[in-house]
Amino acid sequence: MLNLKIIVTSTRPGRKGIIFGNWLLEEAKKLPEFNVELVDLAEINLPLMNEANHPAMRKYEHQHTKDWSAKIEEADAFIFVTPEYNYSFTAAFKNAIDYLHSEWKHKAVGIFSYGGISAGTRAQQMMRLVLASMSMTVVNEAVTIPMYTQHIDEDNNFSATEQIERTTSIMLQSVAKWGRLLKAIREDETKK
Ligand SMILES: Cc1cc2nc3c(=O)[nH]c(=O)nc-3n(C[C@H](O)[C@H](O)[C@H](O)COP(=O)(O)O)c2cc1C
Repeated sequence: MLNLKIIVTSTRPGRKGIIFGNWLLEEAKKLPEFNVELVDLAEINLPLMNEANHPAMRKYEHQHTKDWSAKIEEADAFIFVTPEYNYSFTAAFKNAIDYLHSEWKHKAVGIFSYGGISAGTRAQQMMRLVLASMSMTVVNEAVTIPMYTQHIDEDNNFSATEQIERTTSIMLQSVAKWGRLLKAIREDETKK
């Protein structure tokens, strides 16, 4: 089994990200190899990074950091659900990454983005740089939803097109494949 965390990275009241996160949760549950959890950064509610030590030392002072560390440590793979804020990722995403270090390392990532005509692709590209620097493997198979409002009705129900369903399935399978490989690599390293 692979522990997959679907991380919703927009936190503002009325955000659409949680709708996509909940939909993705149900899609991911269809794959028997995933033990999947939705992680909502609005609920996690980390303050702006307030640990004194570099996260690589794992000398965490605050309970919120210890809890966040435990949640990420147990994961084998992630999907980040992201909007595009001013051509980039959200501040909450970067803050959540910055809190930790080795907990992220050698784990698989998929990205699910939504936006206007750009479909959140500029946010995705910037996320890839950050995630690569944490020694994470971001799969190439991403989900990008342009003009996302067309797919969400006034009751906040998301209707995925066949294409969105297909690309999501392809991304999930790729995350599972890389998740398995990277888990084996991490297990191999701990034996040394
Ligand atoms: C601070 C801010 C910046 C935004 N910048 C962009 C942008 O650069 N590109 C884009 O396509 N949409 C942009 N938008 C519009 C978002 O795509 C839209 O508000 C979306 O619902 C945001 O995701 P959320 O609802 O999960 O917060 C921006 C929205 C906000 C609040």
